[in-house]
Amino acid sequence: MATVLGIETSCDETAAAVVDDGRRVRSNVVASQIDLHRKYGGVVPEIASRAHIERLDGVIEEALTHANCKPEDIDCLAVTASPGLVGSLLIGLTAAKTLSWLWGKPLVAVDHVLAHACSPAIDLDPPPWPAVALIVSGGHTSLYHIRGFDDIERIGATTDDAAGEAFDKVATVLGLPYPGGPEIEKLALGGDPRRVDFPRTMLGRDSLDFSFSGIKTAVLYHVHGKGKTSGGLDRWSPQDLADIAASFQAAVVDVLVAKTMRAVARTAADTVTLGGGVAANSVLRATLADACAERHLTFHAAPMEYCMDNAAMIAALGHHLYERGQLASLALEAKPN
Ligand code: KG4
Ligand code: ZN
Repeated sequence: MATVLGIETSCDETAAAVVDDGRRVRSNVVASQIDLHRKYGGVVPEIASRAHIERLDGVIEEALTHANCKPEDIDCLAVTASPGLVGSLLIGLTAAKTLSWLWGKPLVAVDHVLAHACSPAIDLDPPPWPAVALIVSGGHTSLYHIRGFDDIERIGATTDDAAGEAFDKVATVLGLPYPGGPEIEKLALGGDPRRVDFPRTMLGRDSLDFSFSGIKTAVLYHVHGKGKTSGGLDRWSPQDLADIAASFQAAVVDVLVAKTMRAVARTAADTVTLGGGVAANSVLRATLADACAERHLTFHAAPMEYCMDNAAMIAALGHHLYERGQLASLALEAKPN
């Protein structure tokens, strides 16, 4: 059995977690910075870096305490090294390298998006592979064919805006605060998803790639008038806005589910997994679950606490790198893209 301390600081959550065997989460501490960034309508990189510096020590200490762990109980440190904001990544990397040197423990470098992709496997024994994995976050919308933790193939990706980015931008258009995804979901609860027929961009019959910039612009023009980017919000009633939010959400979910089913047909997989921040959306979870049930596919969504950015998923994937001996040196650098 191996115990891994995971550290995640790629964007605006400062997080640390202790995970046994890549699967049993002993602690999962996340200090969210949403309150710091909300008044700016998005993440401000300098504020994010500063907050990571101020909070990371305390978050790591809390993760060890919750797990009832001392440094000598940790076998390996796993840290997010890519992708993300370079200033934010550097804070986590510096902490992980320092502890690795100080405690004399090995270090592994984890890719944040692959950690989201593997997050549905947390708590599962055996893991759900082989599977088609849909990852929908603020920065990425991707499909992977995962045949094992060491055999992950990307089969689809976003060509422009990620789904979460579209949720955040459309929320701004509708006058909702950051982060927009949960706000749109809340507003859409009382709305009619068939009221507005927003475009479902499929990019050709065989494509597994995604494009969400068209729907973002369609919502913008629908709200303000064709070709206009401001001035039209006041003419809509609260019910109209709920209908627009529900129609937008339905269009995004339709595309995500249709492409995932395309990937299933392509790979002949019998299991589908879902991870990433947008995977917290209950309409997406339910619609994908229904589509899988109809086709007799097994479906695993990442548990809610492992959808938004967290370090449990970093420690979990880090465990498999450690087991395979894929260690990083103290010269490890951040790769923002
Ligand atoms: O995975 P994540 O925490 O960070 C990245 O790696 O990007 O994802 C954050 C994204 C944001 O765009 C946020 O608006 C979206 O996830 N999100 C949601 C919901 N909760 C978070 N989108 C739709 N519905 C939600 N309930
Ligand atoms: Zn993320």
